[in-house]
Amino acid sequence: TATTTSAPKSSFRAVGSVAQLEKDGQLKADGVLVIRDRNNPTTPLAFNSTCTHKGCTVDWKDGEFVCPCHGAVFAPDGSVRKKPAKEPLATYAVKVENGQVLIAS
Ligand code: FES
Repeated sequence: TATTTSAPKSSFRAVGSVAQLEKDGQLKADGVLVIRDRNNPTTPLAFNSTCTHKGCTVDWKDGEFVCPCHGAVFAPDGSVRKKPAKEPLATYAVKVENGQVLIAS
């Protein structure tokens, strides 16, 4: 699942601060989109923002991921809500340390 943290510590990298995530509701860095699911507010979730349909970059809007190219929609856990995408968004392991959001890279 999205919150698995089995990767070794050294492979994590910071993508932004928790404060910034709380302020903006998302963090964007190098093809990674970090969000907070309102049903699971304590743990940030990180996704590859590349749409699994044809590779456009999805946006996080009103509690779901929306692809601007052909209208695919993904749920906050990355699963497909609306075609034409068929595969879920790829996820990264996430952890929070010293107020920074780290993702496995
Ligand atoms: Fe995202 Fe086609 S590339 S819906």
